[in-house]
Amino acid sequence: MEAEILLPTQDAERVFDRIADALVSTGYIALPAALPRGIAELLFERIASFEDDGFHSAGVGRANEFQVNPFIRNDEIRWLSIDNDVEASYLNWMEQLRTGLNRRLFMGLFDYESHFARYAPGAFYKKHLDAFKGSTNRVLSTVFYLNPNWAVVDGGHLLMYEEGLEPIAKISPLIGTLVVFLSDRFPHEVSTASRLRYSIAGWFRVNTTLGAHIDPPQ
Ligand code: OGA
Ligand code: MN
Repeated sequence: MEAEILLPTQDAERVFDRIADALVSTGYIALPAALPRGIAELLFERIASFEDDGFHSAGVGRANEFQVNPFIRNDEIRWLSIDNDVEASYLNWMEQLRTGLNRRLFMGLFDYESHFARYAPGAFYKKHLDAFKGSTNRVLSTVFYLNPNWAVVDGGHLLMYEEGLEPIAKISPLIGTLVVFLSDRFPHEVSTASRLRYSIAGWFRVNTTLGAHIDPPQ
């Protein structure tokens, strides 16, 4: 099925306004039905169609520091690519958000990377920050959820923290919900889910290349 190319509509501009306002006031937002419903449904069909070998174990850290540590996280991931129409429609929406936020907040967002994530029943991702140590290039995190009919008893919540030990937000991974937050400010975790759980995690990065040190890595 051909996915349409998404141009910024009036609706999308209103969503970008809300995200920009929230980033200034609280630094994060969880929006139900942020993207057009059809895109969420096609992405759900897409992630559900991958065989086991379409994913690989998620790790922690980049390049030389990359390691798989199943005590920290045990989800499986698959990077999105513009070569697939459905994935491209999501990346295209995120490109509109990138330029929309740069226009509103002068954030200097430079690019975006994202992966599908599949949490098998019993899987989790312990409390962490998305901005890597020693590198400031991930500045804004997104998580988009793809689970129809999620119930509170299914677990798998996104728990957001700020300074304290108690979460400031507990978000259900219901299809269509988009979470956006400043990457270096909010530790967060995925609590254990009793059901298969799908999400798309992504990061807007700034270009911090200085001299011969290429950052983001190519
Ligand atoms: C991540 C992450 C949250 C989620 O991949 O860094 O925090 O709800 N994911 O899938
Ligand atoms: Mn994270």
